Amino acid sequence: MPVVTIASPKGGAGKSTTAVILGTQLARYGANVTMLDCDPTRALTIWAEKGILPPRIEVVTDVAESDIIRTIKRLDQDGRVVIVDLEGVASRLVSRAISQADLVLTPMRATTLDATIGIRALALVAEEEESLDRSIPHAVVFTMTRAIRSKQHSGIEASLREAKVDIIEPSLMERAAFSALFEFGGDLSTMAPQGNMEAAVANADAFAQAVYRRLVGEEK
Ligand SMILES: Nc1ncnc2c1ncn2[C@@H]1O[C@H](COP(=O)(O)OP(=O)(O)OP(=O)(O)O)[C@@H](O)[C@H]1O
Ligand SMILES: [Mg+2]
Repeated sequence: MPVVTIASPKGGAGKSTTAVILGTQLARYGANVTMLDCDPTRALTIWAEKGILPPRIEVVTDVAESDIIRTIKRLDQDGRVVIVDLEGVASRLVSRAISQADLVLTPMRATTLDATIGIRALALVAEEEESLDRSIPHAVVFTMTRAIRSKQHSGIEASLREAKVDIIEPSLMERAAFSALFEFGGDLSTMAPQGNMEAAVANADAFAQAVYRRLVGEEK
């Protein structure tokens, strides 16, 4: 424990990138991290095979609907963080991964279309909450954001806040270093400099700490 499930039915929302940034940061803080690659296109596995896997991280490939719950329960050990990366769909596999989560993160580009589709992840969480009769903490992460915030972004954020949706601050900015994780593998510390590296590292760190605070039940 804990189990962090990254879920959005919107393709290309930044799920796998969020999983790698979170996993590598938590491992840097000293956590043992297992990432479950549940996406048939195997983005996390591609990342893991590109470079040298950072210490304390393992990636389990091809976790399917039939074994997701068993796999999570097997890994559910003290101190181990499990991060589940999913395909951009709504499916029984996604719902099962949500049902086992201590925290569900929904990465979302701050555009109207992406928010409209991405928000359906929250309905999937609500369905699991109803069926299990427990609340499942969940939060939205804005991804690929720009330094100058668009009106669309502000509008989407305002309506999510009005609906009492938890939003992780800071968002994940659009950074060359973040997309380059899948080119070089490894983490930001082992990567040859890409763009403003210092800003990328600071952003990843502040983001992971904000998630960590939720996992340990500290104030948001
Ligand atoms: N913060 C970011 N900065 C720069 N590029 C990003 C960022 N987040 C994601 N990307 C890029 O956007 C694309 C989609 O990201 P990613 O693969 O993480 O999304 P996904 O939700 O996992 O997609 P899928 O639904 O296909 O699994 C990738 O090319 C990735 O490198
Ligand atoms: Mg992905």
